[in-house]
Amino acid sequence: MKILVTGANGQLGKCIKDAAVNYRDFDFLFATRGLLNIESEESISEIFKNNRFDYCINAAAYTNVEKAESDQENAFLTNAEGVKQLAKHCEENNTTLIQISTDYVFDGKKGSPYSEDDTTSPLNVYGASKLLGEQYVQEICQAHYILRTSWLYSQYGHNFYNTVLRFAKEGKTLTVTTEQTGTPTNANDLAEAILTIIKSNSKKYGIYNFSNQGEATWYDFAKEILTQTNQLTETNLAKTDYYRTFAARPKYSVLDTRKYKNTFNEAALDWRKSLSFLLN
Ligand SMILES: NC(=O)c1ccc[n+]([C@@H]2O[C@H](COP(=O)([O-])OP(=O)(O)OC[C@H]3O[C@@H](n4cnc5c(N)ncnc54)[C@H](OP(=O)(O)O)[C@@H]3O)[C@@H](O)[C@H]2O)c1
Repeated sequence: MKILVTGANGQLGKCIKDAAVNYRDFDFLFATRGLLNIESEESISEIFKNNRFDYCINAAAYTNVEKAESDQENAFLTNAEGVKQLAKHCEENNTTLIQISTDYVFDGKKGSPYSEDDTTSPLNVYGASKLLGEQYVQEICQAHYILRTSWLYSQYGHNFYNTVLRFAKEGKTLTVTTEQTGTPTNANDLAEAILTIIKSNSKKYGIYNFSNQGEATWYDFAKEILTQTNQLTETNLAKTDYYRTFAARPKYSVLDTRKYKNTFNEAALDWRKSLSFLLN
């Protein structure tokens, strides 16, 4: 089984690389942006010309939700047009594409967990660009999985988890919003979920939600990180119900993950439990 991983220097790419050590039968090619730029047709052609992949995990994306509001062109270039090019090459080469998508394709007005069939209606540029990427994958690739996930964090990169730990270390007060509810998802668990799908080789293509279980506000998430690391004090965490951002975000974007669980016989961990595994 030969597997191409794009965006190998991102947090998910690095978590897949870590998880890969337990999948010795799989032959991975971890491609950083320098080796494979998904915006460049030439770059994609070159890598497909020299290799025959069974699967391509697209972990490459424009992920700066705030910046995307004023940089629409580049967000769409990567998350939609780049994905379109990648999808074409996967289809032409009989490669199953696993595209990673987001809870931000929803507007958050439903008020209960989103299933795979719920109507999409992104509130921001990032969500709209990721949704168009999903649509290209569905149109172009017969063999595809679209995995929607939420609030990714890990030991790698610039994410909320690392920011909370940094503020605590520096003795600074962090003010965190209670405005949005979602599910923090350990990117290491997402990496395992992706490899579980590949290992199953079940060809049960389509859209799947994958996140950890339960729900939280960003404030709850920060409080849990500080509590589990014995760093919560009376002064280092404050809550706000109004945190100004450029990009609008869904108020409630919890994902219903039963389809993934029932199809692949794997239940995701509760988000607090998964956090404790990362911290210990
Ligand atoms: N982070 C979240 O909270 C979250 C939530 C829901 C869904 N997701 C989705 O999960 C996936 C993984 O996200 P992540 O958190 O791992 O993101 P990340 O840490 O920002 O990693 C994205 C990677 O993509 C690379 N990249 C950007 N443009 C590229 C291009 N044109 N060609 C090749 N590589 C390119 C980046 O390269 P450089 O290092 O050179 O910039 C980076 O290494 C993405 O599809 C994202 O949309 C993320």
